[in-house]
Amino acid sequence: MKGIIMAGGSGRRLMPLTGVLSKQLLPVYNKPMIYYPLSVLMLAGVRDILIVSAPDQLPLFRALLGDGSRLGLRLDYAEQKRPGGIAEAFLVGADHIGDDSVSLVLGDNLFHGPGFSALLRDRAERLDGCTIFGYPVRDPQRYGVAEVADDGKLLGIEEKPARPRSELAVTGLYMYDNDVVEIARWLTPSARGELEITDINREYLERGRAELVQLGRGFVWLDTGTHDALLEAGQYVQILEQRQSVRIACLEEIAYRMGFVTVEQLRELAAKHEQTEYGTYLKDLADRARVSEPVSYAPPPDLAADPSGLPHTPLHAGAMRS
Ligand code: TTP
Repeated sequence: MKGIIMAGGSGRRLMPLTGVLSKQLLPVYNKPMIYYPLSVLMLAGVRDILIVSAPDQLPLFRALLGDGSRLGLRLDYAEQKRPGGIAEAFLVGADHIGDDSVSLVLGDNLFHGPGFSALLRDRAERLDGCTIFGYPVRDPQRYGVAEVADDGKLLGIEEKPARPRSELAVTGLYMYDNDVVEIARWLTPSARGELEITDINREYLERGRAELVQLGRGFVWLDTGTHDALLEAGQYVQILEQRQSVRIACLEEIAYRMGFVTVEQLRELAAKHEQTEYGTYLKDLADRARVSEPVSYAPPPDLAADPSGLPHTPLHAGAMRS
């Protein structure tokens, strides 16, 4: 499965913060916003990822994340000349996707919850058509809303309905089979002049190949598109990291736990942040790993116990395939 992060957009609601800088480069507490959606794709086991943003912002993303090899990833970059809609991901990213399936995540979405990595890997493996993720919110009329039958089957999706048929907002994380590229080519712009992701999801629904996964209680989904939402997301990360001394969206840690980098590489990554709290956290992780290695990956019970859903020890240590 390939990955795409949509990190363009106009960021109007965050002006003047977004006057010269992409929303996805702004801080959410102690990390650039794009770390959070990038961590989601990594947790799903996706290592070949395209970052899409405006032409003047791409060099900044590249300077921040590079080619991804230090994290055992392959990162590529593509321009979206103007914010023509989220579904443009599949036109801009058609070559990147090739014959593969793809997971798309919006650059301003933050997910956190128990067993998330296991859930994502499971859904990626069992993907048949399209999988979207629903989350109960108090104000569904602001979002795409999923209508579901009693048994949880997806019946319909409405965009910002005045009278929502459920409280389930469609989040900014999607998985598609390869048909999505062809479907995107047939889309026409909506009244607001954008290629709409909802139109893609509806097409899958009509074909009887769309599935909704409900992210329940205890799960956190935040988007960071307004000043208040951005501040609240930062506070959420701050509280959790200070209270539990775990990190959310620490890319180096995830790369290690997912087996994308070895413990030696983790140690090198820690050294790059020497004399900082971030570096100390990574070094401690590497030190603890030394003691516990080699341990093989033991699936569900372990995963259920870990709030991140990450394996406690690497799934497997391996370099990026070439
Ligand atoms: P939105 O929040 O819909 O739009 P925006 O980021 O432009 O912000 P505003 O509404 O304040 O003007 O976008 C959701 C995410 O998708 C966000 O991370 C930006 C990204 N995006 C693109 O990359 N390209 C696009 O054409 C659009 C519409 C959004």
